[in-house]
Amino acid sequence: MPPSAPNAIVPAVDIAGVSKSFVNASKKGDDKVQALDHVSLRVEQGEFFALLGPNGAGKTTLISILAGLTKADSGTAKIMGFDTVREYRDARTNLGVVPQELVFDPFFTVRETLELQAKYYGVKSATAWIDEILENLDLKSKANANMRALSGGMKRRVLVGQALVHKPPVIVLDEPTAGVDVELRQNLWSFVKRLNGEGHTIILTTHYLEEAEALCSRVAMLKAGKVVALDTTANLLRGMSGITVQISADDVPPAWASCGGIQASGAQGYTLSGYGELEQLLADYRAANIAVKEMKLGEADLEQAFLKLTSKEAA
Ligand SMILES: Nc1ncnc2c1ncn2[C@@H]1O[C@H](COP(=O)(O)OP(=O)(O)OP(=O)(O)O)[C@@H](O)[C@H]1O
Ligand SMILES: [Mg+2]
Repeated sequence: MPPSAPNAIVPAVDIAGVSKSFVNASKKGDDKVQALDHVSLRVEQGEFFALLGPNGAGKTTLISILAGLTKADSGTAKIMGFDTVREYRDARTNLGVVPQELVFDPFFTVRETLELQAKYYGVKSATAWIDEILENLDLKSKANANMRALSGGMKRRVLVGQALVHKPPVIVLDEPTAGVDVELRQNLWSFVKRLNGEGHTIILTTHYLEEAEALCSRVAMLKAGKVVALDTTANLLRGMSGITVQISADDVPPAWASCGGIQASGAQGYTLSGYGELEQLLADYRAANIAVKEMKLGEADLEQAFLKLTSKEAA
């Protein structure tokens, strides 16, 4: 059971009507960026929750508000029932954040960095837990290395470790796998899954949507500071029922000109309701005398839901 919960049934995270704007100082006039626009969402204890959205959607701003690093213009945010402003210390003790930016003190070793963090949170006899963290994040061989001597991916591992030192009931990971190799990603996810199994609430932001799909049972999608989707991963995928198809060809049949989108591969991508529509699509390619060079079929996935809900065209 997570420590210091004031009440077992309070939500792990409760965000109500949070707005935040920044003044864009680089431009003339009082140009404002609405980073968050009346965001409300609740994450229950024990959930593995994904916070998704394109660059600039407001994810990190929301996490900064949860961590008490940024003050909301309006609305409230609570961690395990503690208000992040009025009850800052309690809220902060219940939260561990892996920040998106690599921030660290270059003069300490990895172990010292974790020990300092433990002291800061008043954790006594943290050695065994720190050893376990080092082991799980594959940092044992680096325990006595100076932070400045670590590679980017290694530094990120230490940031993850720092967030876990005080065993917070709520753990927020802001793109923890950016720039991290495949092996650590696997280690990290099995470690985080274990923590979730032990009752810790996990909130994850990632641009690797297959990670979110595999791990998270519920998803919030932000777009330009607004929540555009808040549902179980299963429901979001159900809403996407159908198939995706990518076709490489020199042209697009006129009837389909505005239906697809160009994929990274250069192929034309379509989302279809089913195989009947696929037959029609191929018939139209034939009728227009366009040779299909290559075709790939796929099931609906979270990436598709994400693009549908957050792309510019959706506006
Ligand atoms: N300190 C700040 N000063 C001015 N503008 C800011 C500040 N912090 C964030 N913003 C702006 O607020 C918006 C939301 O930024 P935020 O970092 O929360 O997005 P994000 O969803 O985390 O994006 P990413 O996926 O790139 O990490 C952006 O337009 C950003 O430029
Ligand atoms: Mg961010």
